[in-house]
Amino acid sequence: MKVACLNKISPLGINRFKPDFQLTEDVNQADLILVRSANMLEMEIPSQLLAVARAGAGVNNIPLERMAEKGVVVFNTPGANANGVKELVLAGMLIAVRDVIGGVEWVRENKADENIAKSVEKAKAAFGGTEIIGKTIGVIGLGAVGGKVAKACVDLGMKVIGYDPYISEEARALLPMEVALEADLDEVYPLCDFISLHLPLLDSTKKMINQATMATMKPGAILLNFSRDQLVDDMALELAINAGIIRKYVTDFPNPKTANMAGVIAIPHLGASTEESEDNCAVMAVDQLVSYVELGSIRNSVNFPRLDCGPKTSRHRLLLLHKNGDSFLAKLTTALGSKTQVTNLLNNTKGHFGATAIDVDGDLCPSVMETINGLEGLIKIRMI
Ligand code: MLT
Repeated sequence: MKVACLNKISPLGINRFKPDFQLTEDVNQADLILVRSANMLEMEIPSQLLAVARAGAGVNNIPLERMAEKGVVVFNTPGANANGVKELVLAGMLIAVRDVIGGVEWVRENKADENIAKSVEKAKAAFGGTEIIGKTIGVIGLGAVGGKVAKACVDLGMKVIGYDPYISEEARALLPMEVALEADLDEVYPLCDFISLHLPLLDSTKKMINQATMATMKPGAILLNFSRDQLVDDMALELAINAGIIRKYVTDFPNPKTANMAGVIAIPHLGASTEESEDNCAVMAVDQLVSYVELGSIRNSVNFPRLDCGPKTSRHRLLLLHKNGDSFLAKLTTALGSKTQVTNLLNNTKGHFGATAIDVDGDLCPSVMETINGLEGLIKIRMI
């Protein structure tokens, strides 16, 4: 297996590959790709490519549907960097309400002042602020990061309102009972001193923070965006900042507009850039690739369903990636016929796509294989 890394990936992950996995500089030769933020949207997909693993949560730099159509399984690493991002969100809240950055800059500018110890006492009035205890935060999106942010804010003595129509049972169970879940997002904005975004960039979430939503926010609200730049409409943001609706916008995704906007604290995408998060993401990404290659297991894929294949105990294992629908499974079982000794068959679907693993003892008859290969809807077949 040839593995291409499109970004720097922690050696802790890379070193988990056994010797039959080799790194390549040439992406066109790759069977597997590890990526962080490189833009793959326009990339030509190599015909032999089996899987892509994103060392991070967001997958808006990967053409998921196009990959699925070619039978390329795309994985992400949900939760692996969540603590790193959560900690930076907390820092973002604190530097938004207290002018620590302005104060530190003042000290730098005045470092030659012999009387600096005295001067600070006069100068500091310009860098005061407010506290976060007792304030209300709306956490929009309660996945791995949002859930941790909500809990930390409860621990810091804040009132927390959570919004997530897709919250999983596991995520809900981990939330402290103090988090008030609100079903209507429009009800959240007017109540909050802080609003923190923790959701993916999709067509449905693009510019979700816009003129209309900002008009309903509490005047002086602080908006935190550690998810993706385009969730916020920049033009509307500038108007809201000038009108005093948004007191500060803290973003981990600067762009030419927000980098030059007054009232914006822009951080250079540092949320997951901690040693721990980079290690965790790399380990999880590599383990998922290896388990897919060696067992056919699919875990944390964003374009194919979950498939927990377990160890291979039969003579053959076939992994089929296919379209969901047109009675694919029925046609497959017919194609296997009564003579194929199937010991296990796992099937799952996600959206338009499906995955099936078949364990077989005894011989796999070439004519059976030929029929399976010709099945309508089959995208890729691999012998494990
Ligand atoms: C994420 O999507 O989890 C982060 O953007 C990861 C990163 O910083 O690469």
